[in-house]
Amino acid sequence: MYFVYNACDRNHNIQRKDGTMRGFFKRNDKEEDGTPVREEDVLRALSRVIEPELGRDLVSLNMVRDIAVEDGVVRFTVVLTTPACPLRAQIEQECRQAVLALPGVRDVQVNFTANVARDTRVTGLQIRNIIAVASGKGGVGKSTVAVNLALALAEEGAAVGLLDADIYGPNLPLMLGVERLPPVRGQRVTPAEAYGIKVMSMGFLVEPDQPVIWRGPLLHSALRQFLTDVEWGELDYLIVDMPPGTGDVPISLAQHTALSGGVIVTTPQDVALADARKGLVTFQKLNVPVLGIIENMSYFVAPDTGKRYNIFGSGGGRRYAEEIGVPFLGEIPIDPRIAEGGDTGRPILVAAPESEAAQALREVARRMAARLSVINMSRKPEGVIGLEDIPVAE
Ligand SMILES: Nc1ncnc2c1ncn2[C@@H]1O[C@H](COP(=O)(O)OP(=O)(O)OP(=O)(O)O)[C@@H](O)[C@H]1O
Ligand SMILES: [Mg+2]
Repeated sequence: MYFVYNACDRNHNIQRKDGTMRGFFKRNDKEEDGTPVREEDVLRALSRVIEPELGRDLVSLNMVRDIAVEDGVVRFTVVLTTPACPLRAQIEQECRQAVLALPGVRDVQVNFTANVARDTRVTGLQIRNIIAVASGKGGVGKSTVAVNLALALAEEGAAVGLLDADIYGPNLPLMLGVERLPPVRGQRVTPAEAYGIKVMSMGFLVEPDQPVIWRGPLLHSALRQFLTDVEWGELDYLIVDMPPGTGDVPISLAQHTALSGGVIVTTPQDVALADARKGLVTFQKLNVPVLGIIENMSYFVAPDTGKRYNIFGSGGGRRYAEEIGVPFLGEIPIDPRIAEGGDTGRPILVAAPESEAAQALREVARRMAARLSVINMSRKPEGVIGLEDIPVAE
């Protein structure tokens, strides 16, 4: 229940019309008596904090756990829908403010944990979300972006797999500096591991430099096996690096599983954008929600002068995203260390974690994960909260 009153002081005393004060809750006396802050007060305060992306309050989203009050210090845990939540600091700040406003609260400690929202359409796999990284045009940096997005999500604490769906020209093993798979146990293939993510690629199965010639049915079954016969374990996100173009791989993949979302990588030029449109149409035909557009090779900052050069033009990705009504997830600068690291098996997130490019990739990963959470949570029927479906890891 809420009381509406015109004027009151911090101690909830109400000002009478004649200017004198009337005690109302007398909470201050209670505090002095040592009456503890109650859990329901904390919950009521937190029910006014809105999760900015989901647009609902933390309590009705069932995101608040483990409230403990001790000696005026309130502790609780907020369960996010992704560990890569871009608005964690804002949520923390608003939670603190709301609870500190309660009488008797001296301090607030907010812990965070995450329970990644699941795409309920992905069935038969221990994978909560499958994200395809595509472009209409080759060479725009799909594989680079896919690798670094996977690493960025893993850095935040998510369980991440990376599938090289470029069956014809697999290059993730080289980009991650892993040559072979661990020994096969039983019927199932154990994926390789690199920098905390699990990786599967046709590159592990064929001799390097040998062209891979696939006919339709073989390609189809290879992709199925990559999903079902690989011991991925439980994954929050499987990032799929798509081959260039709009050929049969996306169609084949979508026949095996729902794809939770797709991102389109483009460079700023019009010609790349024209091709990005093809990527968009493919996703739309396959009923894959587009999580957003990523513009790669957006600009170059000269290391000696710090001057920014828009080598391939500017703003094309953002304009395109606006035009088609999908989020623009961010711009990744050109950095020679990206190309170098791609060849030496050290992705930029590992080789230069503080670089502008690495930071930009992290931001893109967070925006992408947040958008996916929103889509997954909005798929739930009204009134049903997704977070309690799965036990929270302590
Ligand atoms: N932001 C960047 N700065 C510098 N080099 C980059 C950047 N992004 C990608 N590259 C380099 O550009 C080349 C192409 O990138 P990548 O292989 O990721 O593209 P792709 O879209 O996956 O290509 P394909 O269509 O052949 O699969 C690579 O040598 C990569 O290292
Ligand atoms: Mg590639």
